[in-house]
Amino acid sequence: MPIIHMNDLDLSNQRVLIREDLNVPLSRGQITSDTRIRMAIPTLKSALDAGARVMLLSHLGRPEEGVFDEEHSLAPIAARLSELLGMEVPLVQNWLSGVDVAPGQIVLCENVRFNRGEKANDPELSKQIARLCDIFVMDAFATAHRAEASTCGVIEYAPLSCAGPLLAQELEALKRGLESPKHPVVAIVGGSKISTKLPVLDSLSKKVDVLIVGGGIANTFLAAQGYDVGKSLYEPDLIDEADRLTNLKTGAKIPLPIDVVVAEAFSAEAESYIKEINQVDEEEKILDIGPQTAELYKTFIQTAGTILWNGPVGAFEIEQFSHGTRAIAEAIAEATTTQHAFSIAGGGDTIAAIDIFGISKKISYISTGGGAFLSFLEGEALPAVVALEKHAKERTL
Ligand code: 3PG
Repeated sequence: MPIIHMNDLDLSNQRVLIREDLNVPLSRGQITSDTRIRMAIPTLKSALDAGARVMLLSHLGRPEEGVFDEEHSLAPIAARLSELLGMEVPLVQNWLSGVDVAPGQIVLCENVRFNRGEKANDPELSKQIARLCDIFVMDAFATAHRAEASTCGVIEYAPLSCAGPLLAQELEALKRGLESPKHPVVAIVGGSKISTKLPVLDSLSKKVDVLIVGGGIANTFLAAQGYDVGKSLYEPDLIDEADRLTNLKTGAKIPLPIDVVVAEAFSAEAESYIKEINQVDEEEKILDIGPQTAELYKTFIQTAGTILWNGPVGAFEIEQFSHGTRAIAEAIAEATTTQHAFSIAGGGDTIAAIDIFGISKKISYISTGGGAFLSFLEGEALPAVVALEKHAKERTL
């Protein structure tokens, strides 16, 4: 269904309220990855160049509503935005009562999650937010799976609501990868637990040609095949689910590791060994795929038309367990650049791996979404997108 796009509107002199997802990782008040901030910059520049009076909204973390706390303040984000935009971005507290901003200027409103009613998508709060603007721009793809006052409720009450360029770009890339993909489609889903990724595994196993599973997820699949996974992370109560997904009649092929890297401890100092999959000792943990497995997975990736990647295949933060994820990352980069595969990656760990292995320019599209990316892969409707579609439809009636 169609939605209204920011780029089609005249923003000059308008009070434009833009919702971004600037929920970036911080360590002791320092931003450790500014990807989400950088991805929002083209939208902000475009609104500023058009002469809009820009008010910017975002959440950060999950603070208690109704209480200000320094740890969740957007102050470090205002500072980084000022650097990236080359102009002062003041941080405004108590913005619900009204914000003064001149054409071509921008202010950042303090964390939306300090407001009571944000998470519950409270209609009164949504109306209050909507009153601040002439045009509301939803650009926060990474929060589009949350029905909250500043992502969803406000769309209904603002005089005019539209999608920002980043949201539009994310939706277009994901639709290309999922709705009309070039086959074969290879999905790589890593992570510690099947339980958190069961919906996405279930949905992808019916849509893709090859589903490569990694991390603790792969261990549960291995246990379902009768392999001893020693002290590895796995979920015994989801063995039946792993079995069901492996045996779906029209489902994806799910290749499993034939060799692995094991150690007795999850540590950079631990002694590690490469072992055949049927030789894992009872005291050992599987912490990466082995070289033969990496070669096997590469053969699928090399011939893929479309590649979807969420989650590493090993404990890549520690060098000795990073080789499998590096091999997968490099294979995806090569398939994208030399075989013209369309590749999409998303999720915090995946983006961190892409940064570490220096392949960000060799992936067709890197999504800012974590949970939103997974929701899209699961085939779920994103509430903010549904609200934008409804808003556009009502305006054409
Ligand atoms: C994310 O990091 O996935 C988004 O910013 C959403 O954050 P949330 O899970 O706290 O809603």
